[in-house]
Amino acid sequence: MCGIVGYVGPRDVRSLLIGGLRLLEYRGYDSAGIALACATELRHTKRAGRLANLETALAAVPASETPEAAGMAHTRWATHGAPTDTNAHPHFDEAGAIAVIHNGIIENHAELRIALEARGHRFNTEVDTEVIAHLIEESYQGDLREAFEKSVGQLKGQWALLAMHRDEPGRIVAARREAPLAVGLGKGEQFIASDPVAILEYTNQIVFLRDGDLVDVKVDGITFYDASGAVFSPRPETLTWSPETAQKDGYAHFFRKEIDEQPRTLKAALAGRVSGTTIRLPELDTAGIDVANLRTVEFIACGSAYYATLAAAALAESLLGIPVRCTVASEFRYAPPRLDARTLVIAISQSGETADTLGAVRAARAAGAIVLGIVNAAGSTLTREATVSVMLQAGPEISVAATKSYTSQALVAEVVALDLARLAGRLDPTTEAEWARDLANVPELATAALAASESLPAIAAKYHGSTGYTFISRGPGSATALEGALKLKELSYLHAEAYPAGELKHGPISLLGPTHPVVAILLEGPTRTKLESNIMESRARSAPILAIATEGIDTRSLADDVVVIPAARQEIASLIAAIPLQRFAYEMALLEGADIDQPKNLAKSVTVE
Ligand code: G6P
Repeated sequence: MCGIVGYVGPRDVRSLLIGGLRLLEYRGYDSAGIALACATELRHTKRAGRLANLETALAAVPASETPEAAGMAHTRWATHGAPTDTNAHPHFDEAGAIAVIHNGIIENHAELRIALEARGHRFNTEVDTEVIAHLIEESYQGDLREAFEKSVGQLKGQWALLAMHRDEPGRIVAARREAPLAVGLGKGEQFIASDPVAILEYTNQIVFLRDGDLVDVKVDGITFYDASGAVFSPRPETLTWSPETAQKDGYAHFFRKEIDEQPRTLKAALAGRVSGTTIRLPELDTAGIDVANLRTVEFIACGSAYYATLAAAALAESLLGIPVRCTVASEFRYAPPRLDARTLVIAISQSGETADTLGAVRAARAAGAIVLGIVNAAGSTLTREATVSVMLQAGPEISVAATKSYTSQALVAEVVALDLARLAGRLDPTTEAEWARDLANVPELATAALAASESLPAIAAKYHGSTGYTFISRGPGSATALEGALKLKELSYLHAEAYPAGELKHGPISLLGPTHPVVAILLEGPTRTKLESNIMESRARSAPILAIATEGIDTRSLADDVVVIPAARQEIASLIAAIPLQRFAYEMALLEGADIDQPKNLAKSVTVE
């Protein structure tokens, strides 16, 4: 979850690393630090709090007399030790000759620390990472790579790890295990980052490291070692993400910018997959899954990605005629269903690095299941561990809270459900053509939903100050209610819960009243009239009603405020309805003065369980 960026080369190291950290701050933001290789010393600055604190501190540090040859920087999401200046990375040996930055958890740090202390080492922090600097110090005999390799061999846990030595200024060594790390190849300069967005401005030639890989990075080239210690020469991938997509483009917040990107990202999600009267995922065509012979389908995901599975799973079950379940990934492994070669596990993850999702995927694969990944981040671990991956093609999402990735996940998951049905011989050409036509409209519907959302600043101002918010819907809209409530909680820290509307009367209705509104996602479909009754029940308890309703529904006697989105089949309308709810959360967060792109306590990519 922490962000890492490293550089060896002639550019201004400080500003390059700080620029990279800015793009990675979404990964973790409770403290940040930097280590710079100057001629005869390893300088460092660390600060608790946001990156701005580190920048201010660095501005006060005089430039070194000779240009810095290399450097590495880190933005932290605390696991061991409070977010203080001292606990920020990098961590050092006692002499300050070896600097280490780390994303992950060293599971055997306590025993390593006891042994190191017994051998006379004195520790400066409680942080697990510090043991690594001491281990390197013990093994160091003039060659950082050798000492690093020996030290990494003693670790248990997960890591993306970088180390530098004072006596070898133009060198960074790095290793990866179960935490993302990529290197960027340049001419006369080299880059390392936990997410390539940090270095895309300089190179799009990226090698995503595999578990067990170790790299020795020097200005004139990178030597790659695999888990057995053998040297290998990987072919870099050419990333097509433009660096501009990781910029705010005049928006005050990435969250707001990413809301507005949705017509384009939804179009990209359909490109090459839905055209005319056909639905075809080339990835599934070649995957060789015997869909007609599947016994069950299991969707797994976390957070917003989990909510994105819900409507698609119901669709898949109705089309395929076999049981389809959705399980949050953190629960899946500990109460697994029957898994075998006739189980298709569909894992959805924006980052492709969420530890709980990857853990569930590994358990599923070990039991012989087929794993289909629906992923946004190219080169991520999930793309490598899944049997087959379908990419969202949404471009980098920087805001911690998901927006465009959510709608793309929900859409692509539905396309997957439809294409599986086609492969199983359960989607007749007429139904396929109707769906293809409706799916092709989705980007246009998103544009209309954005336009309708322009009323939300005024609506949010009216509802602001309520004691709590209950989101309700039925059918596919229930997933949207969950996502809408999650967005409001994440961004504004206001209390919101989502309920299937029929459940209101079994408890949450007692909360409702003039200061506790209901947000209803009212879509045309078989349960509309039932939902309307539930809204009336809420009104009867004096709850103000904000409805996100599809065009054509008469809401006059139902709602105090309405955002009208275009009419569409409910599986599609439900994902479009998320757009005004994202905007609602955004406007509420503005009114609350909350930190929208980096809500407190959260991280974009949760790489610990
Ligand atoms: C974090 C993020 C959420 C995201 C979830 C799953 O909690 O803050 O926005 O939905 O992780 O992330 P994934 O990358 O697996 O989609």
